[in-house]
Amino acid sequence: MGNTTRSAKITRSIGILTAGGDCPGLNAAIRAVAKSTMHHGIPVIGFLDGFRGLVENRYIPLDDRAVSGILTLGGTILGSNRDKPHKMDMGGTIMDMTDVAIANAKRLNLDCIVCLGGNGTQKNAYRLAEKGGINVITLPKTIDNDVVLTDTCFGYDTAKAIATDAIDRLHTTASSHHRIIAVEIMGHSAGWLALGAGIAGGADVILIPEIKYDIQAVAEFLNARRHSGKRFSIIAVAEGATAIGEPDDVDENDDDKPQKKNGKKKNGDSNGANGTSNNSGALPQHPIMIRESKVSRIVRELEQLTGIEARMTQLGHIQRGGTPTPTDRLLCTRLGAVAGELVAAHKYNVMVAVKGDDCIPVPLEDVSGKVRTVPIDHPWVNAARLMGTCMGDA
Ligand code: F6P
Repeated sequence: MGNTTRSAKITRSIGILTAGGDCPGLNAAIRAVAKSTMHHGIPVIGFLDGFRGLVENRYIPLDDRAVSGILTLGGTILGSNRDKPHKMDMGGTIMDMTDVAIANAKRLNLDCIVCLGGNGTQKNAYRLAEKGGINVITLPKTIDNDVVLTDTCFGYDTAKAIATDAIDRLHTTASSHHRIIAVEIMGHSAGWLALGAGIAGGADVILIPEIKYDIQAVAEFLNARRHSGKRFSIIAVAEGATAIGEPDDVDENDDDKPQKKNGKKKNGDSNGANGTSNNSGALPQHPIMIRESKVSRIVRELEQLTGIEARMTQLGHIQRGGTPTPTDRLLCTRLGAVAGELVAAHKYNVMVAVKGDDCIPVPLEDVSGKVRTVPIDHPWVNAARLMGTCMGDA
């Protein structure tokens, strides 16, 4: 028998994880990444519950059967949370679990981990690549639409449709009762969702974090509407909107805040306004402060200033539920397909960004730690003003 050495069959494989706030489209993206990667003969596993699953070595195979029928399914079959490898709550003690995450990835012989998430996930993925030579590829996911260097993020279109539908419905009841109705829309650091849904829904006032509002100016605007015969008004309020003179609305629970593009701080994947719990489900150490929501205060102040009956609605996590829109399904499929191509080409440590009809890799180091906020002279802001919408400033 010749001394032949059998060439060891080098099996490549990748992992996928979903982290940060969930959104419609995650399963469509998981499906697309897995199918595109498997198209190149590379098997795929999915880590459960974000980076925590990587640290705890909890994963499932993502074969054809596992990703069948999930294109239209909301949420994520893998589960998600906001845990960070370098600051992970392990039984009540915050520990740096980066080395464990890296060791697990290497033991599983993973070529790469594809991370689907918002700004916090982009930063955590980059940290893993920078620190431990784990190859990563990320996709831009967040209803806040505030990841830089991409035209848009998946999840945004669906959340915008949900918020717009809510504004449409609030129009009929506000009109019946001749009221001011304010609706709080998600978007802690960036106002893309309130701006997009506010314009699409024809809100009369749109308040976003990037333009601090003057409650007196808003009241005068509403009074002028009333005097002109308009008997109701709709106000779209981003949860991060702040009044002139107030500090920016930052989440006190997270001291790991990547620099916002405009120099302000932001927590990871943006967390709730009151960010009342960490991701292990444990209650926060500090007592939960019961404080009036922004939108409730705005409504109370406007009722006092105008004498017009006012009501409020907080859409909350309704904006993150349900099946993705066709636009988001198409976007996720495009992004995931390219991610699989990049895996096959060994092109790592990039985010797959939307650029017109293309999806192209951009260096993850140029994304990590930044937030895409609404420029105050953005064409959408100008369009709103041309429609006669009050943006909260005089
Ligand atoms: O990051 C998306 C987002 O929905 C933000 O708009 C919102 O402020 C936050 O997540 C809510 O976080 P959680 O789901 O952890 O309460």
